[in-house]
Amino acid sequence: MRMTIALPAMFTLLASLGGPAVPARAQLAVTSPDRRTVVTVETRGGGLYYRVDRDGGALLLPSRLGFEFRGAPPLWDSLRVTDSARDSVDETWTQPWGEVARVRDHHHQLKVTVEESTSPHRRFTVAFRVFDDGLGFRYEVPEQPNLGSFEIMQERTQFSFADNPRAWWIPSNRPRMDRSEQLYQSSPLSTLDSVQTPLTLEGRDGRTFVVVHEADLVDYARMNLAGRGMESRTLTAALAPYKDGVKVRGHTPFVTPWRTLQIADRAEDLAPSVLGLNLNPPDVLPGTEWIKPMKYVGIWWGMHIGTMTWSSGPTHGATTENAKRYIDFAAANGLGGVLVEGWNTGWDGDWIQNRNAFSFTQPYPDYDLKAVAAYAQEKGVALIAHNETSGGIENYERQLDSAYALYRSLGIHAVKTGYVTDTTAHGDSHWGQYMVAHYRKVIETAARYGIMVDAHEPVHDTGERRTYPNMMTREGARGQEYNAWGGEGGNPPEHETILFFTRLLAGPMDYTPGIFDLLIERGTGRPRRPDEPRVRTTLAKQLALYVVLYSPLQMAADLPENYEHQPAFQFIRDVAVDWDTTRVLKGKIGDYVVVARKERGGPDWFLGAITDEEGRSFDIPLSFLPAGRRYVAEVYADGPGANWLTNPLPVTISRQQVTGAARLHIRLAPGGGEAVRIRPAR
Ligand code: NOJ
Ligand code: CA
Repeated sequence: MRMTIALPAMFTLLASLGGPAVPARAQLAVTSPDRRTVVTVETRGGGLYYRVDRDGGALLLPSRLGFEFRGAPPLWDSLRVTDSARDSVDETWTQPWGEVARVRDHHHQLKVTVEESTSPHRRFTVAFRVFDDGLGFRYEVPEQPNLGSFEIMQERTQFSFADNPRAWWIPSNRPRMDRSEQLYQSSPLSTLDSVQTPLTLEGRDGRTFVVVHEADLVDYARMNLAGRGMESRTLTAALAPYKDGVKVRGHTPFVTPWRTLQIADRAEDLAPSVLGLNLNPPDVLPGTEWIKPMKYVGIWWGMHIGTMTWSSGPTHGATTENAKRYIDFAAANGLGGVLVEGWNTGWDGDWIQNRNAFSFTQPYPDYDLKAVAAYAQEKGVALIAHNETSGGIENYERQLDSAYALYRSLGIHAVKTGYVTDTTAHGDSHWGQYMVAHYRKVIETAARYGIMVDAHEPVHDTGERRTYPNMMTREGARGQEYNAWGGEGGNPPEHETILFFTRLLAGPMDYTPGIFDLLIERGTGRPRRPDEPRVRTTLAKQLALYVVLYSPLQMAADLPENYEHQPAFQFIRDVAVDWDTTRVLKGKIGDYVVVARKERGGPDWFLGAITDEEGRSFDIPLSFLPAGRRYVAEVYADGPGANWLTNPLPVTISRQQVTGAARLHIRLAPGGGEAVRIRPAR
């Protein structure tokens, strides 16, 4: 259903919408289909403002909109409304793969056009789309005589919160901290200075959750959010800069990404998050049959724990022999893919400095790329080619076509990219407009060659996978690799219970779960003392992460030899990677999550439960199972005495008959988890 009603250039009285109590004055408003959320737009003293009410109370106070340019006056004064238009959409579409198969796009739209009442009489439109699960708005700037080419110095979009919610955040734009691989902190919104999105806000009433993010980031700079300090509850868009301070260069007509506010009553209702997907254009690929979610192993963890190297030498990981061993292991265990890192020349010496030395087609002499690729094809295993750029963007772009053409000719349909750098070679932010364009170019080029992308050190996910379903997964947070390095001590037990409600709301994450050898030491293989940095989970929690942390490319990250003769490995063999349905059964940010997902194209359900450093018990009704059918629950639980600190390995594997009327009793150890496969009884 789609209806468009263009309104003349006059105001609609909010009262006529029958909406909740907002002062009855001349202003434009649009409500969500369930009428709980109301966005009101007005000009005041020449400024353009929007506000958001929820259930009759203010969520966002009037928040200002506009731009500052270099070489032109700011565009946010002396504005008057000249036009408005409405639209309404209720459509359901199917994802080729995802956390859920079907997505409903049900929203009401209001577009408001404003113009400067004084010279230079520039104009723009703000489009608001209001859904039951939140809203998005973007600027649409038409071609016009007095606004052609421009340099945006600041997008002055504000988010002025009525409440002072608890924010779950990682900082942005700090010297040498300009990356997403950080531990989350939480504090009142009024204390924030500069943070990344998605930014999850937990209302003090415990009944309102808001996530600020963006959608459909194409030819623009990534948005961070700046607080003002001094107890202000206003956040302002802070775009990642070019070296000279310009944020975005372009010319009209142009549209910005959508600025999004996901809204939910309970933490459990935040996931799966589809607001951003609904705000991205539909799939543009001619066919998606070649795009296949899969589990994979890789020549990878060995480098991170220091028993193998990316560079050439006696412990070089990417040898023909090693790769064949991993391919055999994947084939024998029904895992779809094998990632090989360090296969291509350029890793010798300081590979971060030598960013322009990487070849993406030339293998090291001890790695017979053609033979390995042929072997993988023969065994029905998909090779994943690794492309670490170290930020040598031009070097990579020069080789994109030749590299992807080579991979395609060898039957390689996936790449893992890497960008170990904080700025580009020109000194621009690695999240700025230039890099956004680069990531997009990689996705588009890969699509042309039939290649899936797993991006590490990416720009944050803004729903690109809807338009390009070959954009599978990405890192963009502290992943498992930090547990190999020690450093600040690895990821604390609460880490993944925060990631689920923050980073993962943007999209899939290649966290790389599945470490079984939980007591390793880098370089020596020596068991670690409990107080030393290492993987800070129980083994059962590593299994649960396959269900909790969604990724269509899901790694079994440990060395194959650590899986041999391990009964718990059966769960990794069985667990699905593509989902029909996702239900978050219990969750508290930073404390615990219990998720059930039904596999796509099959009858099995999988349940994953994780906790922070505290042990917890739950009684979970299995009412998500269809009534009247008998199932077997295969349970991988923390064993007797298990805890992440001193005894992470015990896992108890058991089976029980269940139906939708049953309850599952779950007992999680400190730092523990539980993974369950629920399959029809035979
Ligand atoms: C960082 C990535 O996150 C990791 O997975 C990769 O192994 C290294 N860079 C080397 O490219
Ligand atoms: Ca990384």
